Amino acid sequence: MNILTQVQLKAFNTLRLEAVASHYVQIHHVEEIAVALEYATQQQLNVLILSGGSNVLLPREINALVMHMQIMGVETLHTTEQYQFFRVGAGQTWHDFVLWSTAQQCYGLQNLALIPGLVGAAPVQNIGAYGVEVGEFIDYVEVYDREQKHFTQLSAADCNFAYRDSIFKQHPQRYVICYVVFKLLKQAELKINYGDLRQAMGEELTAENLQQQVIHIRQSKLPDPKQFANVGSFFKNPIISAQQLQYLLKEYPQIPHYPQAHGQVKVAAGWLIEQAGWKGKRLDQVGMFAKQALVLVNYADADLYDVQQTYQAVQHDVYQKFAISLQPEPVLFDSQGVIQAHTGVSI
Ligand code: EPU
Repeated sequence: MNILTQVQLKAFNTLRLEAVASHYVQIHHVEEIAVALEYATQQQLNVLILSGGSNVLLPREINALVMHMQIMGVETLHTTEQYQFFRVGAGQTWHDFVLWSTAQQCYGLQNLALIPGLVGAAPVQNIGAYGVEVGEFIDYVEVYDREQKHFTQLSAADCNFAYRDSIFKQHPQRYVICYVVFKLLKQAELKINYGDLRQAMGEELTAENLQQQVIHIRQSKLPDPKQFANVGSFFKNPIISAQQLQYLLKEYPQIPHYPQAHGQVKVAAGWLIEQAGWKGKRLDQVGMFAKQALVLVNYADADLYDVQQTYQAVQHDVYQKFAISLQPEPVLFDSQGVIQAHTGVSI
């Protein structure tokens, strides 16, 4: 195990923010985890767990040990009448695993094709798209528990999956995700009710076509991270009360909204941002993407400060217009490598 110092993380976060880690180590094997954590304790450093870097906001200087998770491997486990089980290393690329699972004729993940990032990060924010969330297809997650100092398994129920949420977000410093065990369907059950997906499918109702159409829709709306540095949806779709929705509908009858549990309603942040005038608008080198207003893009060499200037201006304008406070989705770290709560809108 090789601990490096003063490592530039620009290539390791998809927003391509300038960020230098005082200490950095790649983790290829589970045995290295406890050794790296012990090193951090001795050096009095916090630990920042980095995966594909596709959902993080990093400051310019990080005085911490960055553990870059690269545990590989895809193992075919047992099978039941309904499911095929797979154990996948946290360092595997998410999209490659989705494509591979489809080629194995195992189903469920096709709606989640082309989501950037690695397998180990998928459970953290319970990645979701086109009516599917990954938690539905996770059997358990193999983790190192930093509190109990041992390896353990968390079942899907233990993981507390919810919209863009899980135990890993609720207890961010506690678990190091090593492997994810998936249970995939042997018979496809296509979920094609979301938005324009059903129409895009045409007559060919197969999982292979579903995957192809999801890829096509994403490519037509979302920026390719190789071309435009971004972290996917920058804000969560806000959940508001039915009462607030009724109030808003009077003035904005076309507001896209989706009913939730307990009489609440999810509204489309992309629409709110577009209405607030931010679709395709930039503040210096950071702006909201012209084809999908929910995606923030770093067009040049922005750092976290520049990104904050833009997204706080967006939050401000949306709040002024709709009295809705948009919550950023990516995880924000401070200069000591500690996760920070996003601050509210300052009016
Ligand atoms: N909309 C606009 N203007 C925009 C963008 C969207 O009016 O600039 C409207 C659309 O017309 C539509 C509604 O907003 O009526 C929802 O848009 P869309 O279906 O494109 O999805 P989204 O709510 O913007 C969510 C996820 C995406 C996921 C898609 C598809 C969140 C925060 N985002 O986006 O996830 O791919 O649904 O399921 O839940 C991600 O998390 O990185 C991500 C890309």
